[in-house]
This record gives sequence, C-alpha cells and structure tokens, in this order.
Amino acid sequence: MFISFEGIDGAGKSTQVKKLKKHLSEKGHQVLTLREPGGTVIAEKIRSLLLESKHDITPIGELLLFSASRAELVQNVISPALKQGNVVIVDRFYDSTTAYQGYGRGLDLEMLRAVNTVSTFGLEPDITFFLDISPEDALIRKFSEKSIPLSFEENELDRMESSGLAFYQRVREGYLQLAGSEKKRFMMLDACNDAENIHEEIVQKLALVCSGL
Ligand SMILES: Nc1ncnc2c1ncn2[C@@H]1O[C@H](COP(=O)(O)OP(=O)(O)OP(=O)(O)O)[C@@H](O)[C@H]1O
Ligand SMILES: [Mg+2]
Repeated sequence: MFISFEGIDGAGKSTQVKKLKKHLSEKGHQVLTLREPGGTVIAEKIRSLLLESKHDITPIGELLLFSASRAELVQNVISPALKQGNVVIVDRFYDSTTAYQGYGRGLDLEMLRAVNTVSTFGLEPDITFFLDISPEDALIRKFSEKSIPLSFEENELDRMESSGLAFYQRVREGYLQLAGSEKKRFMMLDACNDAENIHEEIVQKLALVCSGL
C-alpha cells in the first residue's frame, strides 16, 4: 500500500503522517515514512540545495532537482519497500511537482506529466490525502511554529516558503484541480479541523479502500 500526503506548507502533512504511522504500526503493519525531497544520501543533498534561501534556481532547474531526488527515492527505497509488502507513506510526491512547479511557477502541465512519469518510473500512490487550507491560515501556523512575529524577516523562511501568498494561492488552486480531476485517488480533507478528527477520517477512509488496514 502506497499512501501520499499533499497540501501547501503548514497544512499539517507531517502531523498526519506521524499519527498514521503510529496507528498502522500499532496494528502490526510494517510502515515506512519518507519525506520529499530527501530520503537517500543524494536526495537529502538535493533537498538542502532546493530549500536554502540563498540560491536562485530557474523553474526548470528546480523541477529537475525535485525530480532527480524523487527518482533516487523511488528506485532505491520506495519500490523495494513496497515489493516487501510494507506500507509506504510519503510526505509529498509528484502531485507536489504539479501543484508547485506547474500551477505555482507556471511550467507546462503536459511536460510535467511526462517528467513525473520518468521520475517515478510510473509509480502512483494508491491513495492521496490532500489537506486543504488557505495560505493565510497556513502561514499563521508556520509563524507560530517558528515563534516569529507576523511582521517577518524573510530570511527566517526557507526558499519555497518565502515565495509569497499569491504563489501559495496558485499552488492551492492546483491541488484543488488535481483533487477534482482524480477523485478516485484523492481524498480531500479540511486541514482546519482538529488534527485528531482529521486522523480519524483518514483511518476510516483507509479501512474502506483497503480492508487489511
Ligand atoms: N489540524 C491542525 N490544527 C491546528 N494546527 C495544526 C494542525 N495540524 C498541524 N498543526 C500545526 O501546524 C504546524 C504545521 O504542521 P505540519 O508541520 O504538520 O505541516 P506540514 O504540512 O508538514 O508543513 P511543511 O510542508 O512546512 O512541512 C505545526 O505547528 C502543527 O503542530
Ligand atoms: Mg512537513
């Protein structure tokens, strides 16, 4: 079973990944959780390149770095774990590329589809939980997390986080489009609900789509 979590920064993905891992592990499943970009030595190096504020990267460069990181992760970690029968939960997968590099940065969506197929070797999540939140609400969460006042210093944020509200609005729109066009794979959740309630919804949905979980 391959599960992905998506949503803009601060939506609550990592919170839900942690809860779901605990739940499934307690039920006796072997669960591997991974975050994108990262998860292998090479992919973690790419992660720091991508998230450091001081580097300027072109949209295509950004796309190819994210995709290189994903290919490393799929081939070396995700596919072998799935073959062994593990549950794999990823904190972001190729929908992030479509939402951020496509809707956010404006890269061609058809081209992204092709690149995503290459970087994943055609692997798709069985189910994708999309945590939907407005960029304003997400930003408030991020700021309270970092204990910095809302009149922020830009250098407190990583390179993606400092892309601005309009950018995140486009990314959110992208996710909404994706969720609408792939209703079978996507489950949309209101990320403003209580974290425990969201977790319950996720557990119920998983029990429905996969009787073993
Ligand atoms: N349902 C929720 N209600 C209120 N606060 C939440 C909820 N879920 C998570 N949070 C808080 O919001 C902040 C962001 O959550 P989290 O780190 O899980 O988001 P994320 O989607 O993983 O963000 P990023 O993309 O930046 O990694 C954290 O401080 C977390 O405790
Ligand atoms: Mg996170």
